[in-house]
Order: sequence, then C-alpha cells, then structure tokens
Amino acid sequence: MSRLIVEGGRPLRGSVEISGAKNSALAIVVAAALATEGECVLDNIPRGSDVATICQILQDLGAEVWYDDQDRLHVKGQNLHKHQASYDLVRRMRASFYSAGLLLARLGRAEVPLPGGCAIGSRPVDYHIKGFSQLGADVTIEHGYMKAEAGRLKGSHIYINRASVGTTINLMIAASLAEGTTVLENAAKEPEVVDLAIFLNGMGAKVRGAGTDSIRIEGVETLRGIEYSIIPDRIEAGTFMLAAAITGGDIVLKSVVAEHLRVPIVKLEEAGVTITRGDNELHVVAPNRLQAVDVETLPYPGFPTDLQQPFVAAMCVAEGTSVIRETIFDRFRYVDELRRMGADIKTEQNTAIVRGVPQLTGAPVEITDLRAGAALAIAALAAQGRTELYGVEILDRGYEFFEDKLRQLGAQIYRE
Ligand code: EPZ
Repeated sequence: MSRLIVEGGRPLRGSVEISGAKNSALAIVVAAALATEGECVLDNIPRGSDVATICQILQDLGAEVWYDDQDRLHVKGQNLHKHQASYDLVRRMRASFYSAGLLLARLGRAEVPLPGGCAIGSRPVDYHIKGFSQLGADVTIEHGYMKAEAGRLKGSHIYINRASVGTTINLMIAASLAEGTTVLENAAKEPEVVDLAIFLNGMGAKVRGAGTDSIRIEGVETLRGIEYSIIPDRIEAGTFMLAAAITGGDIVLKSVVAEHLRVPIVKLEEAGVTITRGDNELHVVAPNRLQAVDVETLPYPGFPTDLQQPFVAAMCVAEGTSVIRETIFDRFRYVDELRRMGADIKTEQNTAIVRGVPQLTGAPVEITDLRAGAALAIAALAAQGRTELYGVEILDRGYEFFEDKLRQLGAQIYRE
C-alpha cells in the first residue's frame, strides 16, 4: 500500500495544467462504442484508474480500445458482441453501469452487475432501471445483476426523480439509437452532460436541450466515429484553487473553463481569495488567512458536492465558523481524519460546522474516497509538519499526476 508524504507550510506558486474531466471521459468513452461506422479518436482523456477500468470493460465486451503515440484514445465499437459485463470489472467503479445503456442500445439486451454502495453512501441506480423499463426494456433484478431484454428500445417521456448525473448520461446513451423520441425531464445540467451531448451530436445523434432540465433525444439508426476533445476537469481545477487558497499561494490554472466554476469562484472570493480570469486561465491569489464561508452543495450550477470535502479542509484554518450543508451524498467520513490533524469540526446529519483554528498539524491519515483524499492532501499542504496519506491509489482514480503537479507548484510532497 503506497502512501503520500507531505511536509506542510509552503505556499503554492507557479502554474498548473488542468487535465481532461474524469466524469466526462467515463461517459464519452462508453458512448464512443455506440458508433458502428469508423472509430472515435478522443483527446484530453485523463490517465487515471477509473478511465482504465472503463476501457477494460469495453474491451471485455468486444470493443477495440487503444492509445496512439499522441496519447489519444481510440474506441472502435463495431465488434461489440458480449451483453454480459463482468462483475470483477464493474465492481471497481460505479460509472461502469453506463455499459447497461450502451449494451441495450447496441445489442438490445444487457446483463450488468448492480454497482454496490461506496464510501460516500448507498448510491442506488433505481432511476436508471426505471428509465430502461420506460424505454421498453423488460428488466429483472436477480443475483445482484440487472438483466434487461429490449429488442430495439422505444423512445419515451421520462421524468427523473432527482437531477441525477448518472441517470441522465445512461439514458442519453440508451436513447440515442432508440426508435422514436425520448424526453428526459428534470435532467442533470452538469457540464459533463453537455459535453456528452455535443459528442453524441458530432457522431450523428439528435440531442437537444442538454444543459437545461429537459433533454430531447430523437433516436437514429447508426452513429459514426469522430475525433473529439473533452472538457477540462472543473473538480480538479477547484481542488487546486483550494490548495492555493489554504497555503497563502499564488497560482495560475491553465486549460480551465471559468464558467464551469462560477459558484466555487464566488465562494472563494467571499473567503478573501482574489481570482482573475484569463484566456482559458484562472489566476488565484490567496489572502494571508481565509475568511469562514457557508456552503450548501447542490446540483449544477450550484456548489458541486465533489468540492465539499476540499472546501471543508480549507475552512479548517479560516477565521470564523463555517456551516457546510451536503445535500447530495453522505460524505463526511473524512472529517474524523481532519480532526486527527487538529481540525475543530462538528457534524450533525448532513451538516458540518467548521470552527477555524490557527493551524493544523501533520498526522498519518487514511484516504476513504477520492475527494476525501483531495481534502486531506489540501489540509496536509497547510499543516505544520509531516502528514502521511495512506490509500493513495484511491487518489489515482481521479487525479492525473496529482503529486507531480503539486510538486511543480512548490509543495513538498512525494510518494513512498
Ligand atoms: C456523478 O455521480 C459523479 N460521478 C459524482 O462524482 C458526483 O458527485 C455526482 O454525479 C453528483 O454530481 C460520475 O460522474 C462518474 P447522481 P452519480 O446520480 O451519477 C441519487 C467523483 O468524485 N440517485 O447525480 O452517481 C444519488 O444517491 C464522483 O468524481 C438515486 O437515488 O450521482 C444521489 O443522492 C463522486 N437513484 C443523487 O441521486 C439513482 O438511480 C445524485 O446522484 C441515481 C441517483
């Protein structure tokens, strides 16, 4: 089990290149296998273990997936022929359930293991399954698998009970090749949903309204491969902004879309951080000490749940008390680890009350989930002394070259 060692107390300085969005890559790599003509060539795909897993799943199902010497990912879906996804692969990562939408669209049937819960709570896929049934699939749940038979899916008017990113993405993938028109009401509006829609339309799909809460998909007969570059990762960008904020740093983020970070920018400015927008760049200058700020996580365009944990870490050393309400998941387990570094945090149901302390101290800590790892790394960068982060392979799921990028910004961080 490798670990990250951090000597805290150094302000971050310099510029950092933001990678492609993990949550866009996972959707678009699966959607690329919908094409039965040509192949997709995908650029700006981040190298992380989650992306590697989704590529393995596609290969297991019969698609051809490979990187070329310019680090672009090729996906050729013609030979997709296996309708059962392997438990050993699916169990590693929840977004593997997107393979259900792909298999129903391409093969008319799917046998996919139900993803279990994870460290941020039980994450059911009941909305996905209800949507597949409404698209005409005959769905049964047995032995931990979803089994669905459909022949060709038929367009339908679907209301998604909560603005669910995964459900919106899975049903967009399934409906693209359905017969007739599908409408997704109360759809998620995340940038990753919009990125997927633009990609699908480039392949010949007819998706309208992505980015609003009503998406209309007119099914087509076939989709063809295209070249495409995915959007930058707004959550990685927010993570680095918070790392600069907590360390009194001064950094430039390159290859970012400021519009995707509108609310996190507002909240960081309230905390005293100066943020200047450049051309696909953000210049982030931290104050000597952050001011406490209240946050409530909401579906996009609200404050993203994936930045809740890094934000709480930054608030641990702010002046004053901040109240953080988490409305999407159950993701406060990492608070126990922050307390071991001297944080003063009380949690009641889905709310954390963070009383700022002058300084955190380094400690050995356990990474429980991807964004908890980001939060603990941020705390370690500002803590007095040495922090050892165990379970760093969890960070590798969604942050490309994480410690290398931090080291380039002057952090004393290395992997053992
Ligand atoms: C996606 O997860 C992201 N993952 C998550 O990022 C992100 O936190 C989340 O969206 C919210 O933005 C990927 O894109 C791979 P949801 P997803 O469906 O799709 C409930 C990260 O760190 N729900 O929008 O699983 C659900 O329990 C990860 O990169 C149902 O009840 O999230 C939650 O309370 C963590 N039934 C709410 O909806 C369903 O069938 C929103 O979940 C589906 C969802």
